Amino acid sequence: MALFDHHKKLERNVSLLFVFSLVAVLIGGIVEIVPLFYVKNTIEKVQGMRPYTPLELAGRNVYIREGCYVCHSQMIRPFRDEVERYGHYSLAAESMYDHPFQWGSKRTGPDLARVGGRYSDEWHVQHLIHPQSVVPESIMPTYAFLMDAEVDAENFAGHLKANRAVGVPYSDAMIENATADLQAQANPDADTNGLEERYAKISIRDFDGNPNRLSEMDALVAYLQMLGTLVDLKAYKQDENFR
Ligand code: HEC
Repeated sequence: MALFDHHKKLERNVSLLFVFSLVAVLIGGIVEIVPLFYVKNTIEKVQGMRPYTPLELAGRNVYIREGCYVCHSQMIRPFRDEVERYGHYSLAAESMYDHPFQWGSKRTGPDLARVGGRYSDEWHVQHLIHPQSVVPESIMPTYAFLMDAEVDAENFAGHLKANRAVGVPYSDAMIENATADLQAQANPDADTNGLEERYAKISIRDFDGNPNRLSEMDALVAYLQMLGTLVDLKAYKQDENFR
């Protein structure tokens, strides 16, 4: 009985109830958070992940500005149906250079985490100009204007610097060459030795079908074609067996 009497006191005294509730919540919080400090690494080590090239980053900016994430997630969950449809489930490391991350939670359209290399550039361009021309039942809106929208290459280094400020390891050389690299990736005739040295596994070509112009379509398609292609999943899977 005595215990219940004590509890009555607690229930009838707002300040006391507040203090004890706070203590209860704090204990819960500590139990959840403290173990994370003892985990060596919450992002598993993988091979191949690198910062996005300036052109990919420009495409990512378009992706965010146009709200593609409102309908598309970029996180393949480790469920059988998703893995069979999209490929290996997403690894934390694959979004470690995403600020902000694009995991998303609304899946009106398919997950895009591994869409890179699945379709041709022409397919993407056609799909973005007029989705129903390639997928008749599609409800995706049209983004044809991206063909005529020019990328602001001039001041592009600022975007890399901003990402570096939040932890993306862009080197000084990457920042210095941001504008040149941005233009060179969509121009197969450019001198791209430096570009290829700075960014591994880079695709260099005209993405939008119009080599005379660096459009936001170039940038967006370059970004989409890179998604999910950087990490060496074979090496990762081999490691996995020894864990
Ligand atoms: C209103 C929701 C909506 C928005 C916004 C949207 N999409 Fe989609 N998207 C869809 C739907 C639905 C599909 C599936 C049908 C299709 O392929 O068109 C799709 C399909 C796709 C596919 C093909 C994926 C696959 O695996 O077949 C790509 C790539 C894509 N969208 C890119 C984009 C990009 C880039 C943007 C932003 C510029 C965007 N989407 C905005 C709804 C949307």
